Amino acid sequence: MKKSILFVDDETSVLDGLQRMLRHKRESWEMAFAGGGAQALALIKASHFDVIVSDMRMPGMDGNQLLTTVMEKSPDTIRFVLSGHADQELIYKSIGSTHQYLSKPCEAEVLINTIERAFAIRDLLKKDSLKNLVTHIRVIPSLPDLYLQVVAELKSPNASTNRVGQIISKDIGMSAKVLQLVNSAFFGLRRHVNDPAQAASLLGLDILKSLVLMVQVFSQMEKTAVTGCSLEALWSHSLLVGRCAQALAKQMHQDKKEVDDAFMAGLFHDLGKLVLMANMPEKYGQVMKLISSKYMKLSDAELHIFEGTHDEVGAYLLGLWGFGDPVVEAAAFHHLPSACVGQQSSALTMVHVANVVVSELKVAGESATVPMPLDQPYLERVGVAGALPEWRAICTTICEQGVKDGG
Ligand SMILES: [Fe+2]
Ligand SMILES: [Fe+2]
Repeated sequence: MKKSILFVDDETSVLDGLQRMLRHKRESWEMAFAGGGAQALALIKASHFDVIVSDMRMPGMDGNQLLTTVMEKSPDTIRFVLSGHADQELIYKSIGSTHQYLSKPCEAEVLINTIERAFAIRDLLKKDSLKNLVTHIRVIPSLPDLYLQVVAELKSPNASTNRVGQIISKDIGMSAKVLQLVNSAFFGLRRHVNDPAQAASLLGLDILKSLVLMVQVFSQMEKTAVTGCSLEALWSHSLLVGRCAQALAKQMHQDKKEVDDAFMAGLFHDLGKLVLMANMPEKYGQVMKLISSKYMKLSDAELHIFEGTHDEVGAYLLGLWGFGDPVVEAAAFHHLPSACVGQQSSALTMVHVANVVVSELKVAGESATVPMPLDQPYLERVGVAGALPEWRAICTTICEQGVKDGG
């Protein structure tokens, strides 16, 4: 079946340009072009679109208003912004309603790759209700403590980007948002930033203030109760897996990008679990019940209740937000890396090992569940089986440290 894409821009010349540029995709893509928000919504009412690519500054309904409405009317449509650099304020406002930003002028190859990648990621999740849930997510709520610390720091007269960065890098949701923004085409950096603290310092205090205090792109987690599992514990688990994966990458003398990738992939590997727990706490409670009463494996219990697993949900969201392959892969395959076809990144290997070791040590997070075993054939195939005793020792030290730090 052809994939359908809707392009929205108030300038006819931009729409004409897109039409010319993408003519050769007509065989595989169904494309529609709208001159404004009202026309776009009428088209969406009449037929379903897989992706919408909208301009930001438009008379009448602006891009943010349009995408927010699309999010309600057609929740599984993936939402991209293609806009000029002058639209900064509007862009910040739209960070909740937009999955990815592209900047004008946009090369055909970049536009096509971004859209094709979104289609590939869509196929990760089979269940429509889960797709709707995930495309709907604006932010991953933050732990109240960390959220309040960031707000207090930003309001303080001696606020420091460094301290803000340190707090942000302890929080999964805030890290995801600053990295998403810094790495978006809109921000225009040539290199990829993988370190949340560095992302915060690149944004700078003024932007961070307007994002956090005015636009409120971060939100505080509500006290949702999931029987048998605590969100705080899952946070510490994720942070520890991130730190362990980072340390393993350093031990392997990997370059800075790979070390940062390993940290980020570890920090976000269980993002899907946070999404499911925060949005459907009762159902996640049923998952935990199946595990404790029927000794079901975590993935089987999740499949039973949601018809999808936290691995798929997390990978899908990270992909939608434009995170790179190492991070998306680690989320998708951290429990069974051998299921990842093609060339796997080293981040996946580090996260897989770190996750198993941290879970076995029962420090936090996945301790309520039966720890998943190491994927031994995979580790042998990629040539790291011999390093395991040393890796275990490294992770154990970090976990002991983490417990002491309260992190
Ligand atoms: Fe997991
Ligand atoms: Fe995990």
